[in-house]
Amino acid sequence: MGFSYRHNRLHCDEVDFQTLARQYGTPVYVYSESILRRNAEVIKTCFIDDGFDVSYAMKANPNPEILSLFKTYGFGVDIVSAGELQMAHYSGFKGSEINFAGVGKTQAELKLALENEIDHFNVESQFELDQLETQAALMGRQARVLLRLNPDIDPQTHPHISTGLKQNKFGMGSELVSHILTHAREYPHIQFDGLHCHIGSQITNPQPFLDLIDYLQRYTNELSQSGVKLSHLDLGGGFGVNYENPFEDILTTTPYLETYAKSAKAKLGRYKLHIQPGRVLVANSAVLLSRVLGVKENGDHYFVVIDGATTDLIRPALYNAYHHISPCERKENTRLGDVVGPVCESSDVLAKNRELPEFNSDDLLTVASAGAYASSMGSTYNLRPRSPEILVGVDGSTRLIRRRQTFEEMTTLYQI
Ligand code: LLP
Repeated sequence: MGFSYRHNRLHCDEVDFQTLARQYGTPVYVYSESILRRNAEVIKTCFIDDGFDVSYAMKANPNPEILSLFKTYGFGVDIVSAGELQMAHYSGFKGSEINFAGVGKTQAELKLALENEIDHFNVESQFELDQLETQAALMGRQARVLLRLNPDIDPQTHPHISTGLKQNKFGMGSELVSHILTHAREYPHIQFDGLHCHIGSQITNPQPFLDLIDYLQRYTNELSQSGVKLSHLDLGGGFGVNYENPFEDILTTTPYLETYAKSAKAKLGRYKLHIQPGRVLVANSAVLLSRVLGVKENGDHYFVVIDGATTDLIRPALYNAYHHISPCERKENTRLGDVVGPVCESSDVLAKNRELPEFNSDDLLTVASAGAYASSMGSTYNLRPRSPEILVGVDGSTRLIRRRQTFEEMTTLYQI
C-alpha cells in the first residue's frame, strides 16, 4: 500500500511513476487513496469511535475529493475563511458540520456563516465577540461559540507554527475568557458552549498535548466553581508526522494518537470533546512528482534543478522543513547537494545539503509528504500555473482531481 519500490522503480500503490509522468506531465501531486483511507480510518477508530467530534482542518488540503472522502468517515470541517465555507458546501458538508476558526473574521464572513447556520464559531478576541453579537442581533440569530483560549503552553515546534504561547496572536488569555464567561448575559445573541485551544502544528512530542489536557482540567474546574457551565471542549489539531520516514504508516509516524485520546477522555470526559486534525490526515498521502531539468555545479556546490518549485511546496523555504527526496528509478551513487526549483529566488530550495542520488537530466523524482500544506499553500509566483493533482484509486485507476491551471486563467484577472 502507498509508496514503495518494485523492481527498483517507485510506485504509488500499483502504478509506476513513469506512467503517471507520461500521462499527466510534471510537476504533479500524486495522492494515494489507500493512504487517505487508512489515515481516516485510524482517526475514526481512535477518536470518533470514542465519542469525539472530528473536524478536518481543511487548510491542510481543501481538495473537494479529499473533503468528500473524509465526510464518509463522519468528519466535519474546520474552516477559516468564506472561501473554505464555499468549498465545504461544494463538497457536501451541511452547515451543522462546519465550525469557523481563525484570528480575524470579516463582518461579511460572520454574516455568511450565520446565514449558513454553521455549527459554531471559535471566537478569538473581544472585538470578534462584539462584532458577532452585533451581527447575530441584526439577523435575529443565536450564535454558538467556543472561546479560543491561549493557554501559554510551548508546543515545541517551529516558531512559525506555534500558536499556544502568549506572544502568538491566537486566542485569549484565561483572565479575559473567565471575564467573558462570567458576564455571558451581556451577549444575548451568543450561546457560550465551551472552549477551544490549538497550541500549534507539527507537534511530535506528546507532552505539550498532555500539559494542555491537565491545564484544561484545572481551568474548567475553576470555571465550574465560579458557576460557569460549559459542555464542549475543542482541543484543536497539531498532530505531527514523521517527515524523515514519510512512507511509514500513520501509527508509526504519529504513535501517540491512542494515548492522547485515552488521556483526554479520562481527564475531560465529562465534556463533548472535539479535535481538528489537518496534517496527520493528509501529509503522507501524496508526493510531488517532478522532472530533473538538469544538474549543475557552482564552485564545489552541486545543484539538481527540477521543474517543481516552492510555488508547489513552500515548506522547505518557509520553515526550513525537511521533505524526503526519492528517485523514481533507484540509483547506485550519491552526491551531496541541493534540489532546487526554477523560481528566481535563492530560497527556491526543496532539499538542502542532502546526500542525493546522482541524477541526470530527464530523471523523475518525488518530494514526499506533499499532501498537507503543499498544494493549499501553492502560488503562481513567476506566473507559473498551479500544478495538477491526481488520485491513484484503491482500484488502481488514476484520475485528475484538480487540473493544471491554464495561462488564460492566470492572465484573465488582469483584464479589467
Ligand atoms: N485548528 C486550528 C485552529 C489551526 O489553526 C490549525 C492549523 C489546525 C487546526 C490544523 O493543524 P494541523 O493538525 O494540520 O497541525 N502551514 C504550516 C502549518 C500551519 C497550521 C495552521 N493551523 C505548515 O506547513 O507546517
